[in-house]
Amino acid sequence: MLKKEVLNKMNEQINLEHFSSNLYLSMSSWCKAQGLNGAASFLETHSSEELGHMYKLFKYINETGSQAIVGALDAPDYQFKDIKDVFERTYKHEQFITNKINELVELTLAQKDYATFNFLQWYVSEQHEEEALFKGILDKMSIIGLEGRGLHMIDKEIGTLVRK
Ligand code: FEO
Repeated sequence: MLKKEVLNKMNEQINLEHFSSNLYLSMSSWCKAQGLNGAASFLETHSSEELGHMYKLFKYINETGSQAIVGALDAPDYQFKDIKDVFERTYKHEQFITNKINELVELTLAQKDYATFNFLQWYVSEQHEEEALFKGILDKMSIIGLEGRGLHMIDKEIGTLVRK
């Protein structure tokens, strides 16, 4: 059974992972509408990864004998300036999620909940990977540029980053 404070924050994290999934799905749809098929496919896959992050929390909470809660979600944005805007926002969003995970980790330590602390280490590593992934995409955009064939090259490049 989780302590109340930890449970509440874990349930908040479920909500955040669910929102992340919807945000990336919405971004994927925008990319597809612009003919950016590589980015659309990458973001669609990433959206389902976020659902995986949500289910993992869900399962863990229920295994402890506590109750995971499916909360209400805000609608994600669906209009973006350009592909750079999309990926700047993904990077910023992942940095926000990293902060939330760090807060959770700190709380489990303060509450001496070492099992949940241990469980959360997977998320700590995952956030490190995701920040690096999105930062890498932004760096490529800066190097290649989005003018002329640059946009096509970037889109193709992002399409190759789909994690199997
Ligand atoms: Fe579940 Fe992209 O963090």
